[in-house]
Amino acid sequence: MVVLAIESTCDETAVALVRSASDEGQACVEVISNVTASSAEILSKYGGVVPEVAAREQVAAIIPVINEVLHSATVTQRHIDAVAVAYGPGLVGSLLIGIETAKVLALAWKKPLIRVNHMAAHVLANWIAPSAIPQLPAVGLVVSGGHTDIILLKSLTDWEWLGGTRDDAAGEAYDKAARAMGLPYPGGPAIAKLAESVGRGLSRSEFVRLPRPMIDQDNFDLSFSGLKTALIQQASGSASQLTEKRKALLAKEFNEAVTEVLVAKTIKAVEVYKPKSVLLAGGVAANKLLRQNLESSIKNLAEDVSFFVPELKYCTDNAAMIGAVAIMRPDYVEPLLLRPEPGLEII
Ligand code: KG4
Ligand code: ZN
Repeated sequence: MVVLAIESTCDETAVALVRSASDEGQACVEVISNVTASSAEILSKYGGVVPEVAAREQVAAIIPVINEVLHSATVTQRHIDAVAVAYGPGLVGSLLIGIETAKVLALAWKKPLIRVNHMAAHVLANWIAPSAIPQLPAVGLVVSGGHTDIILLKSLTDWEWLGGTRDDAAGEAYDKAARAMGLPYPGGPAIAKLAESVGRGLSRSEFVRLPRPMIDQDNFDLSFSGLKTALIQQASGSASQLTEKRKALLAKEFNEAVTEVLVAKTIKAVEVYKPKSVLLAGGVAANKLLRQNLESSIKNLAEDVSFFVPELKYCTDNAAMIGAVAIMRPDYVEPLLLRPEPGLEII
């Protein structure tokens, strides 16, 4: 099966062509062509996502991105079996552009339409070849700009929500903390880069300390709002009063604090549910410290639990992951009935 997949939930306009494949007898997804246009640079001027601006950029990008995908692939419209689109969660204006475009293509080409939950797509990015394919059951840590969830995947379709953030999402906390320190949007990569610039051998007087919220609580819940506020207070309100050195130390401490709580809660879920795999997913999964520390913590805990994380380009928003859900667990929908669901949950 070949699927043309569209992702337009926030500030990326992404289109991909994917096909069903198999790896050692296990179903997986092969990417034929994958194009992502981002309005992050434009939004950076505003210090973050302005929904109207993001939607306007979606309108401008969607047709050129579809054309680029179709022209770069050896596949033509005749070979496409279905059209897939993310219908939530996300910004309603951005979602509408992808959804209406997908409907028109499905109707004009007389192909079935598949609706895809964007957060589930982040998780199923772990089924994109040529990476190894996860064994289930698995514990999933899904960390994006709008959501942070810990889930149990008993099968591809039977998922249980174990816990998540009670306030800000991890990515949102990175973005807001970065803004308070005068760093560009998106804040996650900016904070991570600055954090990595801090050398070893710091003297005691140079330490800054931020809280690790809820780390000792016996549940799978998380909270990032207090951590973000603590950073903003330590940055003493005004970015101009911050020395470059202190900014870098705060970035390092913030990166470590977020990583520590995410790793601790995921490891707790591994201890309780004893899965075969742990899946990391979402934009914050691009964070090097989180990837490394989660992998090494799992290895230290249990040799027989495998760790999976998508390639960097499939962590942040992309359409290949939308195609992955369409292939692995298709949810067909009557085109004229499909509406955006901005508040859709992962399960
Ligand atoms: O999944 P995603 O691309 O979009 C949403 O569905 O929200 O996630 C975007 C989020 C942003 O908050 C961004 O700051 C964060 O992912 N992010 C990172 C890194 N790269 C992107 N956070 C920490 N470290 C990174 N390297
Ligand atoms: Zn996302």
